Amino acid sequence: MCAFEFPKRIPLSQLPTPIEKLERLAPLFNGVEIYIKRDDLTGIDLSGNKIRKLEFIAAKALQQGIDTLITAGGQQSNHARATAAVAARLGLRAHLVLGGDGKGALTGNLLLDYLLGAEVTLVPTEDLDALTTVMQELANEYRKKGHQPEILPMGASNATGALGYAHAIAEMLPQFEGLGFIPDYIVAAAGSGGTHAGLMIGKELFKLPCEIISINVRMDAPYFVREISRVLDEFRNLYLSDLQACAQDIHIVDGYVGTGYAQSTLDELRFIHNVARTTGLVLDPVYTGKAFYALWRETQNGRFQKGNRILFIHTGGIYGLFPFGDQYAREVLGSKP
Ligand SMILES: Cc1ncc(COP(=O)(O)O)c(C=O)c1O
Repeated sequence: MCAFEFPKRIPLSQLPTPIEKLERLAPLFNGVEIYIKRDDLTGIDLSGNKIRKLEFIAAKALQQGIDTLITAGGQQSNHARATAAVAARLGLRAHLVLGGDGKGALTGNLLLDYLLGAEVTLVPTEDLDALTTVMQELANEYRKKGHQPEILPMGASNATGALGYAHAIAEMLPQFEGLGFIPDYIVAAAGSGGTHAGLMIGKELFKLPCEIISINVRMDAPYFVREISRVLDEFRNLYLSDLQACAQDIHIVDGYVGTGYAQSTLDELRFIHNVARTTGLVLDPVYTGKAFYALWRETQNGRFQKGNRILFIHTGGIYGLFPFGDQYAREVLGSKP
């Protein structure tokens, strides 16, 4: 069915994740049919999209004798938490460089990072270059002590990580067959672009006739075109020289970063509340909630028509919801708590 031979992966997540139709959302979405790929159900500590990437990255790291995974992200990074969980499962060390000051309640992903035994270095900055410098310094220190560290890029977005969502497309093919159709669009949130790159690669490998769209929750469309192209180029170099996917094929819906990365407007928070109480589906404010809100707005704007079938990938992020508890109490739930 596809000539590409996937490199080794370590199966750590609960796959295949189900695809569910959100029947009760049809009126809200003007008759556009919404299906959800429940990648929030890949696990508990491993919940979300990152584990699909890390299954390939960890397999390669073990083959190379790596004993320490170093990575970076925000203080509530889902990717950092998933890396900590993978390391704990495989008996590796995880060292997380997190942009934040550690202030506030110890909750969500940061709490899990500590519980999972990761070393955490908090750096009070949002400057990604500064975090990268700290990762490089740490890697040098580990090497001097005789360890074999590997630096994983933010969001595990490299060619090896992209294999995870190419593989997810393979997983979805029989699911689409069961449903009796291929969705018109597959939509996801973009934070570092690796999920989108993987989906594009999978679409090409398996000749899937549907459009892949990402909604950026930080930065802007040109940034993601650059980042995704970089991953595609790396994939060409490492795995498949005749991969055709390129910058022109990248579809990003820009304009929904709102008040900023990991910041939520009242409208976004209310929308998440509405979806949760109408359907039982819980989204996180940083990634899936923002992207799903954007999808709804784009439906209102006429980008998607009645009868279109959209598969939204729920990429996880539940632990990133809890630090929003105070804001929810103040702005959305009234005096409830
Ligand atoms: C919950 C969640 N959804 C979506 C994304 C975006 O994925 P990517 O970084 O591959 O663009 C991330 C991470 O950035 C995430 O943690």
